[in-house]
Amino acid sequence: MCGIVGYTGKHSVTDQLLDSLELLEYRGYDSAGLATLNGDTGKVKLRKCAGRVSDLRKLCQNDKKLSTCGIGHTRWATHGGVSDENAHPHRIGDVLLVHNGIIENYEELIDHFMLHKELKSQTDTEVVAAVLNRFYQGDPHDAIRKTVKYLKGTFALVILFVDHPDVIYAIRNVSPIVAAYNENGTMLASDVVALGATADRYMVIPEYVITELHKSEIKLFDWKGEPCEAQFMEIDWDTTRDGKGNYPFYMEKEIMEQPEVIKATMEERIIDGRIDLSVDGIPDNILKECERVCVVACGTAMHAGLVAQAFIQSKLQMHMSVEYASEFMYSDPVIDEKTLVLAISQSGETIDTLEALKYARKKGAKSIAVINVKGSSIARESDYVMYTSAGPEIAVASTKAYTTQLIALFLLIGRMAKVRGAFDELDEKKYLENLVQTPDKMQEVLEQKEAIHKIARDMLDAKDAFMIGRGLDYSILLEGALKLKEVSYIHTEAYASGELKHGTIALITENTPVVAVVTQSRLKDKELSNIREVQSRGASVVLMVKESFELSDAEYADIFLLPAMADEFMVFPASAALQLLAYYVSMDKGLDVDKPRNLAKVVTVE
Ligand code: F6R
Repeated sequence: MCGIVGYTGKHSVTDQLLDSLELLEYRGYDSAGLATLNGDTGKVKLRKCAGRVSDLRKLCQNDKKLSTCGIGHTRWATHGGVSDENAHPHRIGDVLLVHNGIIENYEELIDHFMLHKELKSQTDTEVVAAVLNRFYQGDPHDAIRKTVKYLKGTFALVILFVDHPDVIYAIRNVSPIVAAYNENGTMLASDVVALGATADRYMVIPEYVITELHKSEIKLFDWKGEPCEAQFMEIDWDTTRDGKGNYPFYMEKEIMEQPEVIKATMEERIIDGRIDLSVDGIPDNILKECERVCVVACGTAMHAGLVAQAFIQSKLQMHMSVEYASEFMYSDPVIDEKTLVLAISQSGETIDTLEALKYARKKGAKSIAVINVKGSSIARESDYVMYTSAGPEIAVASTKAYTTQLIALFLLIGRMAKVRGAFDELDEKKYLENLVQTPDKMQEVLEQKEAIHKIARDMLDAKDAFMIGRGLDYSILLEGALKLKEVSYIHTEAYASGELKHGTIALITENTPVVAVVTQSRLKDKELSNIREVQSRGASVVLMVKESFELSDAEYADIFLLPAMADEFMVFPASAALQLLAYYVSMDKGLDVDKPRNLAKVVTVE
C-alpha cells in the first residue's frame, strides 16, 4: 500500500507534497516523510516521522521553503514496525527513495550485497536504496536498470539522485504511478486524486519504463533506453474537491452522496428505457455464450458479488461462484473459456483481485471488471470495464463504491437476462422501474439519519454484536457487519439466522446486541422466528424491516422501517441504514471514522 508523490517545478515543494500526501493518507497512515533537494545549493532536507501527515507538517513548519523538487511518502507498515527510522524516504549515499509495494527477496539482497552494516531500518525499501547506491556511478538509468533486475516483488520506486537536482526518477512493477504536468511543474503520485489541480489530463506510467520528471516535461524510456510515450487520460472527476464539505467525516459525506452517484452510474447505461452497455463496449455474445460466472474480489467488493450471486441464480438459473480473490488461484478453480470472470474493485489496484484476474485469463476466461478508478491496473488487465461513477472515495470504509458496484452488477445481470432470453421486454421494463427508484429509496433512509443515530447510541458499549438474516438479507448483513467492525472495533459477525441454532446461539447472552434485517417476503416468517429464538435468550434486537411487512406485537429494542421496494432491490435502503449505523457508532465512540486502525484503502500487498 503506501502513497507516494513527487513534484518538481516552479513552486516551493514542501507544502505541495504535504497537501498531496494528505490526499493519499487513505493508502496508509502510520508514518510519513518527505525529502527535498535544492537545485541551487544542492542541499537535501529529509524529514520523516511515525504518525500522520499532520505530524510531518509540524516537523516541517520551520523549514525555509526554497526547494522546488522533492518526493514524499505515507506508509502502511509491512516490513518493519511503525517508527521514525522505518518511515520513508530512505537515504543511502547519493540516493533518496520512496517505495510502494513489497520486495520479496530483500533478505537475499542484504546477504548478496553484504548490506548489513549500511542499513538503519528494518524495511525492504532501504535495501533497494542501498543496492541502487552500490550501482550508482553518476548514471541514474544504469543504476536503476541494474537494481531492478535483482528485485522480486511489486514496486513503485520514486528516486532522487543528489547530483541530479530538479529531476525525479521513477520505475514501477504492478504498483501504480500516475503523472501529470502543467505550466508550473510536473508531478507524480500513486493515485490521480493526489495530482490535485495539476492538470486535466494524466498518464499512467507503464511498467518497467524509466520515467524522468523535469520541471517542464516528463520523459519516458523503455527498458532498452529508447524514448517512449504513455497514453494520456482525462481527469473527469473533481480532484480538487471541496473536502468534507459540511460533514465531520468523509464517510458521512460519501454515504450521503449515494443517491447522486448511483444515478450517475445508471444514467449512461439506460437508454430509451432499455439497458445499453455500449458505453462499456461489452458485446452481447460474451454475456450470452458463457456457461458460468465467477466473481473475484475482496472485502466489500466481494460482498457486492454475493448480492449479485443471489440475483443471477434466481433470474438466470445460472451457476455463479463468488471467491475471495486471495484464495482463488490456490483453490484450483474450474475455469475455462466458457467462464466469465467478474473482477470487482473500487481502487482497481487490489493485488489479490488483480492476480486472480490474471490467473483466470490465462486459463482462457473472458473478463469484465467493475471498477471505480479509471485507468487502474485491474481495469487495464480486463477484457472489458464497467466504470462506476462513485467519484473519489476517501474514507477507508467503502460505502458509495459498494452501492455503485451493485448498480453496475444489476445492469449487467439485467442485460444478461435479456440476451439469454430470461427477460422479455416487459420483464426488463419492470426491472428498470425498480432500479431507477433506488436513489429515492436510499434518500428516504438518509433523511432519517437521526433515527439511526439514536439506535447507534445504544450500541456504544457493546463488545460483540451479531447481525442475522436469511437469503439476500444475509448477504446484505455480511457487508453491514464488516462496516460496523472496521469502523467501530466492535466484534461483529453476520450469521444466516437459520444457522444460529447449530452453534452460534451459544454466544447470545443477556443484552447482546443483534441487528436483524428482514426484507425478503418468502423468508420473513422464518426470519421472525429466528429473531424470537435470540430474544428468548436475552438478546437486544434492533429490527430493520421492510415497511410494508406486517409485524406481530413482539417487542424490539428498536425498529427501523425500510422504504419498500421489490425484494431484490431492498439491498439499497438496507445498506444505507447499516452504513449509517456503523458510522454513528464509530463517531460517537470518538474514533477516527475515516482512518480506522491498521487499515489502508488500497491494498497492494498479497
Ligand atoms: C471495507 C473495504 C475493503 C475493500 C477491499 C477491496 O470497507 O473498503 O474491504 O472493499 O479492500 O478493495 P477494492 O474494492 O479497492 O478492491
